[in-house]
Amino acid sequence: MKQEQKTASLGYATDAIKGAAQYATKTESFSLKRGNSKITVSISKRREMSQSPHLHKYDIAKYDLHPGYIFPESFQSLIPSGTPEYVDSGQRYVERMIRALYYFKQCALIGPSGTGKTHITYLVAELTGLPVWEVNCDLQTSSYDLIGRFIGLGKENWVDGQVTSWLRFGGLLYLDEANMMKQDVATRLNPVLDTRGHLVLTEKDNEIVSRHPYAYLIISMNPFSAEFAGTKPLNAAFRRRMSVWVNFDYESVGEKISQQEINLLIKRTNVDSDTAYKIIRVGAEMRRQYKTGDLPYGPSIGDLIHWAVLIKDGSDPLSAAEETIVALTSDSVEVQGDVRRLVESIFKT
Ligand SMILES: Nc1ncnc2c1ncn2[C@@H]1O[C@H](COP(=O)(O)OP(=O)(O)O)[C@@H](O)[C@H]1O
Ligand SMILES: [Mg+2]
Repeated sequence: MKQEQKTASLGYATDAIKGAAQYATKTESFSLKRGNSKITVSISKRREMSQSPHLHKYDIAKYDLHPGYIFPESFQSLIPSGTPEYVDSGQRYVERMIRALYYFKQCALIGPSGTGKTHITYLVAELTGLPVWEVNCDLQTSSYDLIGRFIGLGKENWVDGQVTSWLRFGGLLYLDEANMMKQDVATRLNPVLDTRGHLVLTEKDNEIVSRHPYAYLIISMNPFSAEFAGTKPLNAAFRRRMSVWVNFDYESVGEKISQQEINLLIKRTNVDSDTAYKIIRVGAEMRRQYKTGDLPYGPSIGDLIHWAVLIKDGSDPLSAAEETIVALTSDSVEVQGDVRRLVESIFKT
């Protein structure tokens, strides 16, 4: 019985601490008085500064996205860590994205698949210390996924969707492939995208959820998506609410071969520089064909790294290609033949 009481009162105190922590500033420590005992809590400064080894590369110190605010402990695990470096040739993507978030709370990324839009979003979240809420939009995405739903019977059993959680608790909402979202779902989101917007949970007694002051949004779009033809271009209301658009492209494409990309491949896999150069050339040509609609997919540097790993392991380049980029591009025998011939033409010279 005694034991039980102790647990119950501890539980109560824990809730109070959590509540207070949510509003604590970075330097604050505070005390709670419960009967005769006093509990002192100091808020750790653990995530005040990003731990990213890439932080020094970027000129972002003046853009604090949550001044004086630490996200509650329960969201710390949603703040990315260990995001690999992002390679570009001077486009300053990271700075431009963080600047857009700082001034406008949201920005849009446009570029073909595999150009690192998701990667850079996680890097931005890590550098700025924001928890990430990620939604991969497709035609199956329903408003239940985004907004929430009742599970089972009874009014207590409401579960917030990603967007609702983001609005309540802040952080970075990433809507991947936002142009693939169904129109009715996009329409539901429109009022939320106003920077001081709010969401009305019509499903849940019209509860009004307002946008947390540190709720940031990044949307991504792929203009070359094979399915794009079947969907409407980004909803106009959505488009108007995005103040900054950042265009992404492959580092190497067609005749343009980026030394940076070759170096990244070598650094990540230890292949020799001739092999690295050839792999990037194959990738660049495949990407060109993807952009002109001749191939259904253009390989990312991540995909090319997989190919290189197998070569480094001892596989010859052609059979390593079979297991990676040939199979990855399509399951059509014809398309696979095209990729195979391209690999052969570059590796046999
Ligand atoms: N510029 C880059 N620097 C480092 N890695 C990259 C870069 N671009 C793409 N990648 C890698 O390529 C893969 C695909 O990137 P991803 O972010 O998923 O592309 P997207 O979201 O644009 O389709 C990932 O493994 C990612 O780490
Ligand atoms: Mg992506």
